[in-house]
Amino acid sequence: MDLSTTYLGMSLPHPMVAGASPLSDELDTARQLEDAGAAAIVLRSLFEEQIVREQMADMRYQDGNDESFAEATSYFPSPELFVLGPDEYVNHLRRVKEAVRIPVIASLNGCTPGGWLSYGKLMEQGGADALELNVYHAALDPEMSGAEIELETVVMVCELKRIMKISVAVKLSPFFTSFAHFALQLDREGADGLVLFNRFYEADIDVQELQVTRALHLSDSSELLLRLRGIAALAPRVKGSLAVTGGVHTAVDVVKSTMAGAHVTQIVSALLLNGPGYLRKVRRDLEVWMDENEWSSLPEMRGNMGVDKAPNPNAYERANYMMMLQSWEEA
Ligand SMILES: Cc1cc2nc3c(=O)[nH]c(=O)nc-3n(C[C@H](O)[C@H](O)[C@H](O)COP(=O)(O)O)c2cc1C
Repeated sequence: MDLSTTYLGMSLPHPMVAGASPLSDELDTARQLEDAGAAAIVLRSLFEEQIVREQMADMRYQDGNDESFAEATSYFPSPELFVLGPDEYVNHLRRVKEAVRIPVIASLNGCTPGGWLSYGKLMEQGGADALELNVYHAALDPEMSGAEIELETVVMVCELKRIMKISVAVKLSPFFTSFAHFALQLDREGADGLVLFNRFYEADIDVQELQVTRALHLSDSSELLLRLRGIAALAPRVKGSLAVTGGVHTAVDVVKSTMAGAHVTQIVSALLLNGPGYLRKVRRDLEVWMDENEWSSLPEMRGNMGVDKAPNPNAYERANYMMMLQSWEEA
């Protein structure tokens, strides 16, 4: 049975990748992911704020100006919040690379162009097989237009492509006014892959304690649908690779993602819930499903439900919305 795929120029035996998360913070767990058959691993992110803080601390050291440093960094989360500092990150990457033979993808996470992106080069030197740039923009500044936010992302991608030899994928949020247009622009500017989509971690309100609170809830398969739509729209149109992240829990989720047009599926919540060994089950279930449904090749399945091939492509369009609203029946 052919489960093979290519992602960011890498040939992979199948499309199940361990997505960016704490899963590979420990070498043991990284090895367990490899043993369970992960096709590749994405490391947790190093954040723009961490790098900029460190770069400012270096400048303070050179200029001896403590006051302006304290003021400038007062809005950055304190370094203790982060599991890995910038230097530790590259060391950790090197150790993971030595511990496993599968491709290791490093992750940078930020939302503005700047010198901090040069860390991508350090990750490349640390042995990363590819880089994932996670652009998580809160987009709450009323002075900043959508076009400006998009332009900043394009500039970031161009900067990384200028300095790096390894492939660069961009992990995006679904909240762009014209998502497909923007994604195609990134593809044209040289992004080697797109990862759909960031989950948005909204703050909640504790009405008793009068606090704005946060809680990290893991996903379930219902979150996949937004990703399927995004991938189905892009698959026939982009040159680069496509990855799904968000809501991949079962073999059928992998099948759906592939049919929409994804080259790989990144899995996090299901592995945090069930342990790295769960990957073995997903792979076994995928083979059983394909056998029962008379598929022998995942590459042949890829994109057969994209907007250009699906028997009912308008299901991805406004027609779907209207039909949904009309379909409600009281039980
Ligand atoms: C505990 C935790 C930590 C995460 N850390 C990162 C991270 O550092 N960088 C990143 O790009 N995504 C991070 N993510 C997001 C995941 O990579 C993934 O996109 C998201 O969880 C959706 O996939 P899932 O439905 O399989 O969980 C994290 C998710 C979880 C649950």
